[in-house]
Amino acid sequence: MFTLRFKTKKIESETQCEREVALLAASTTAGVELNHRCGGHARCGTCVVTVLSGADHLSEPLASEKRILTILKAAPDQRLACQAWAKGDVSCEAKG
Ligand code: FES
Repeated sequence: MFTLRFKTKKIESETQCEREVALLAASTTAGVELNHRCGGHARCGTCVVTVLSGADHLSEPLASEKRILTILKAAPDQRLACQAWAKGDVSCEAKG
C-alpha cells in the first residue's frame, strides 16, 4: 500500500493505492481534477505536474512523454500525469 498526494491551488488530497497506477487516474480517485485535454494520450501536455517527492517511485518516461516535456520546456521534476505510473509514495503539484 502506498500514498499518492495531489496539490493544486484549489485542493489538496491523497489516495491510497495497492497497485501501480497512472498519476492521472489516481488524481481522479483522490477527487482532484487535473487537466487532461487529450484524454491521456501524451499529446496535449495539459496534465503536467511537478513531482515534489517520490520521483524514484515513478515509471521512466517513454519517448512520447519526453517529446511533450521537451515541447513544454518542462523542468526535470515535471512529468505528464497521464504517463507517469507510480509504484510507491509520490507527492505532486499541478497548476490547476
Ligand atoms: S492528458 Fe494530454 S498529455 Fe496527458
